[in-house]
Amino acid sequence: MTVGVVGAGTMGSGIAQVAAQAGHPVVLYDTRLEALDKAKAALAKVMGRLVEKGNLDREEAEAIQGRITYATGLEAFTGSGLVIEAIVEDLQVKQDLFKQLEDIAGPDAVLATNTSSLSVTAIGGALSRPGRLLGLHFFNPAPLLPLVEVVPGLATEHGLASQLTSLMKAWGKVPVIAKDTPGFIVNRVARPFYGEALRILEEGLADAATIDHAMRTVGGFRMGPFELMDLIGNDVNFAVTRTVFEAFFYDPRYRPSFTQQRLVEAGWLGRKSGRGYYDHAEGVERPAPTDDVILHEQICWRILVMLINEAVDALYLGVAERDDLELAMTKGVNYPKGLLGWADEKGLPHCLETLERLQAEYGEDRYRPSPLLRRMVREGRTFF
Ligand code: NAI
Repeated sequence: MTVGVVGAGTMGSGIAQVAAQAGHPVVLYDTRLEALDKAKAALAKVMGRLVEKGNLDREEAEAIQGRITYATGLEAFTGSGLVIEAIVEDLQVKQDLFKQLEDIAGPDAVLATNTSSLSVTAIGGALSRPGRLLGLHFFNPAPLLPLVEVVPGLATEHGLASQLTSLMKAWGKVPVIAKDTPGFIVNRVARPFYGEALRILEEGLADAATIDHAMRTVGGFRMGPFELMDLIGNDVNFAVTRTVFEAFFYDPRYRPSFTQQRLVEAGWLGRKSGRGYYDHAEGVERPAPTDDVILHEQICWRILVMLINEAVDALYLGVAERDDLELAMTKGVNYPKGLLGWADEKGLPHCLETLERLQAEYGEDRYRPSPLLRRMVREGRTFF
């Protein structure tokens, strides 16, 4: 089956590589020629490195590159069995593209969107055959991160999600099924990792370096929230937070932080601009964290319990099933453990008490415990 990929940027070029490595002929298209040239050169470099390290035969590397055709017109998707879209995050632009694609690719083709924040149902709403469209949400970098969120929209044909789940497994990916709700699984459940860290910073309880240190040493996370936001880009992270907040009809739990907004306004976008929460100029050392171990534990627990509450609520609202929730956070954003298993380990009554204490202290809806957490504590149950 030929796989089409629209958009040869960060995600599209990675997805094209994954499909070619899985053995498919791939057609990669972009409106900008230079994006295609860049994608081709980047792939050659990645393949060269894999060959050098002995991870790939030279012939195999050449075969993978040979399977990708670089196209300059949409007609190239005639006959593609699956077309994955990874263009600009704009509803109207995506709808226009899919309207053209459904004519070109034919009635049997599967159309997939890599959107991270738009509703799959809304994209499908513009199509004459919305049943053939679903979300296929890869993580950056697509060739390295195994998670793929498979997201059926309201009108998606029954059976398409499980068909794509099997295909993703055949590609060596870890697919999970997510309900078409704002942020799907990962971008919803991970919100407090940033939001609660920003809140702790704003309250003056600790500085960025101390919060990052706490999350790494006590929590076992690979990166702390501030270093991660500096890596992702504060503009990108702020935009996701904002979209999720709006999509939830302004639920205060997802309220963005003006601290982060100010950084964006100042152009302090993180590594890519040389400055964010940290100064990334050559030779500048990170400020040292405070060495108050009790404080580290308090910081980590406050952020972790908010993450746990979010995961429990996602389960409660049917966003995903238990095991998929655990896979999503460990395979999509490299959390050291699944949050529901982590909740069991910490004790559900302890999680509930902490959230109730925070809610009483701050009087904010942001800290409201999930009804499922209350129910499980009342019934003395655990997730596993
Ligand atoms: P990007 O800006 O790196 O690449 C987008 C590419 O699409 C550009 O090369 C652009 O020329 C091309 N393009 C724009 N409009 C087009 C059109 N109408 N037809 C053909 N090509 C067109 O963007 P990126 O980061 O790769 O994101 C693409 C999609 O993937 C977005 O929907 C984004 O939300 C989503 N996504 C991004 C992730 C990330 O970490 N960057 C992670 C997961 C999803």
